[in-house]
Amino acid sequence: MKEARPDESLCYIADAHRYDQSERLYRRCGQSGILLPKISLGFWKNFGAVDPYERSRAITHYAFDHGITHFDLANNYGPPYGTGEETLGKLMDDDFRPYRDELFISTKAGYDMWPGPYGNWGSRKYLMASLDQSLKRMHLDYVDLFYSHRYDPKTPLEETLQALVDIVRQGKALYVGISRWPLEALKIAEQYLRQHDTPLLIYQDRLNLLDHTPMEQGQLQFCREHGIGFISFSPLAQGLLTDRYLNGIPEDSRMALGTTLKRDVLTTELLQKLHDFNNQATKRGETLAEMALSWILEQEGVTSLIVGASSVAQLATNLKAIK
Ligand SMILES: NC(=O)c1ccc[n+]([C@@H]2O[C@H](COP(=O)([O-])OP(=O)(O)OC[C@H]3O[C@@H](n4cnc5c(N)ncnc54)[C@H](OP(=O)(O)O)[C@@H]3O)[C@@H](O)[C@H]2O)c1
Repeated sequence: MKEARPDESLCYIADAHRYDQSERLYRRCGQSGILLPKISLGFWKNFGAVDPYERSRAITHYAFDHGITHFDLANNYGPPYGTGEETLGKLMDDDFRPYRDELFISTKAGYDMWPGPYGNWGSRKYLMASLDQSLKRMHLDYVDLFYSHRYDPKTPLEETLQALVDIVRQGKALYVGISRWPLEALKIAEQYLRQHDTPLLIYQDRLNLLDHTPMEQGQLQFCREHGIGFISFSPLAQGLLTDRYLNGIPEDSRMALGTTLKRDVLTTELLQKLHDFNNQATKRGETLAEMALSWILEQEGVTSLIVGASSVAQLATNLKAIK
């Protein structure tokens, strides 16, 4: 149980029992020394400047109090871009500084971040400058994990990969990862990074009940066979794989915002599929969200998944998937 606190807004003290369930909470990330929680917390949405800080703060407290040690960020999370990292910086100052060594914080660069030719894709110039900016926004000296956020077909892979190696050598990141690279490029990355004493820690891609791409294209199997961790993003398909849209489109939902989850995705066929999944979940005595997350964690080679949550209640439901 948490100790009683006079004023929650002034001082955060993490739950003393947060590691009581360690045996079932953590998985080894490939063949590395790192253990990650099966469920990690993502800052893509709900942690920007447009979101209420106290709500973001409560979600991170709940997460950490339940042993969720991994927060996943990127330079462009918000909105506006950069403000997901700024929120993390404020959280570090307000609450988490004493717990820095208990946290595993990742960030990424790869998508459009600032104007001009050096604020996008995979050049050394972009990755190096972006990480420096990220560290400033997050009030951190280093990140635990730095990712190439996407494959850049025009920059030589060696340039991107050597930048990752040098970032580790500079002490600005402890480990490197890549996200959404085609299998052939992933193979080159694995070999290059291993040969340069910076083994690839983890590969990040979308894997969920509706999207099996990294299984079909082979990235999951490759990671499993080469001691690389695998972490799934959008495990609930941005909320589709929950009860959120079974009876309409709620006003406060991501789909109502219409940015990254458009209304036209929700076809009659998809809605029928979601109802079928929901019926299966009910038969299992679970929510659809729990069933969707459990399915990912059952796939061989998966280390963790990164959920998003717009409330503590959603996160609490999602954590039930750790059985
Ligand atoms: N590498 C990449 O390219 C990439 C791309 C995308 C994401 N990511 C990472 O993956 C993380 C997660 O992505 P995501 O936010 O799309 O994940 P998600 O978990 O699939 O979707 C999160 C959304 O689902 C809804 N939700 C979550 N739990 C719920 C529950 N129990 N009941 C009802 N609704 C629930 C909420 O929607 P409402 O907001 O409508 O309440 C929430 O904002 C990101 O934060 C980021 O760290 C990485």
